[in-house]
Amino acid sequence: MHIIQSRHGLVAHLLSLRKQGENVTIGFVPTMGALHSGHASLIDESVRENTITVCSIFVNPTQFGDKSDLEKYPKPIEKDIEILIKHKCDILFLPEFEDVYSAEYVHQKFELGELESKIEGASRPGHFQGVCNVVSQLFEIVSPDCAYFGQKDYQQTAIIKSLIQLTRSDVTLKIVPITREPSGLAMSSRNIRLSDKGRKNAAFIYKALRDIQTDAESRSLLELVDRAKQFISSQKGVDLDYLLAVDAETLNEATSIKESGSIIILVALTYEGVRLIDNIFLN
Ligand code: PAJ
Repeated sequence: MHIIQSRHGLVAHLLSLRKQGENVTIGFVPTMGALHSGHASLIDESVRENTITVCSIFVNPTQFGDKSDLEKYPKPIEKDIEILIKHKCDILFLPEFEDVYSAEYVHQKFELGELESKIEGASRPGHFQGVCNVVSQLFEIVSPDCAYFGQKDYQQTAIIKSLIQLTRSDVTLKIVPITREPSGLAMSSRNIRLSDKGRKNAAFIYKALRDIQTDAESRSLLELVDRAKQFISSQKGVDLDYLLAVDAETLNEATSIKESGSIIILVALTYEGVRLIDNIFLN
């Protein structure tokens, strides 16, 4: 695996690879590191579908509202490199701040509409603008054919869809299903901040989502959402931020399963001081 730090180094390397053949396709997996099996599943998908896979590891300061969250973000780079080699990633892009945001770079404001300020955006103001700024820069540098994002951050995938349209980019967005720990807890770089007991207990999040899915045919959506909220709030040490049934396309709140297209349940909460998110499709 090539490890490339500079923006120009990566652009030049990818250009020479593209010149080698007409059928070269570049798959891109942007990450913030502290890689786990969820990230690895994105790499696997890209390796399966492309001739070259590029993974970036960059903890993007512009998407963190909470500075302590940024400071606490784990950076186990040696372990990350091992995982990437094992999963046959071809290139690791490991930029410094200046490689992503040049001295002349002006932070852009993307017209994301209400999508950026609702649900996750309401709890993390400015977060999705930060994501769009970094991803648009990374897309410019890598110029991928396909880019791989996890369903785990569902609203982020909707934001990237908008970004691709807004920038008239020809990148194909690929959304990869959620990888879970054996308990059902969605894998996240933040899970290591939970206590051992907390990490096991946090299975209640997936249980709440599954229970909604299981009973979706027999009960009203409102009833199911209320029941799940009560179940989650009754767990010790939990601060529920939101649990919502939304239309998977518009992310507008859904009131009934029959009247909507595809519905997804989105949940975010703080447990043992760690913010966790998850989701599940109902249909
Ligand atoms: P990060 O949190 O490192 O996640 C990188 C990618 O891995 C995202 O697309 C995320 O949805 C996916 N991912 C995380 N956990 C997953 C899981 N359990 N199963 C499947 N996929 C999972 O998301 C970001 O970084 C940043 O916002 C980024 C896009 C890199 C921009 O800075």
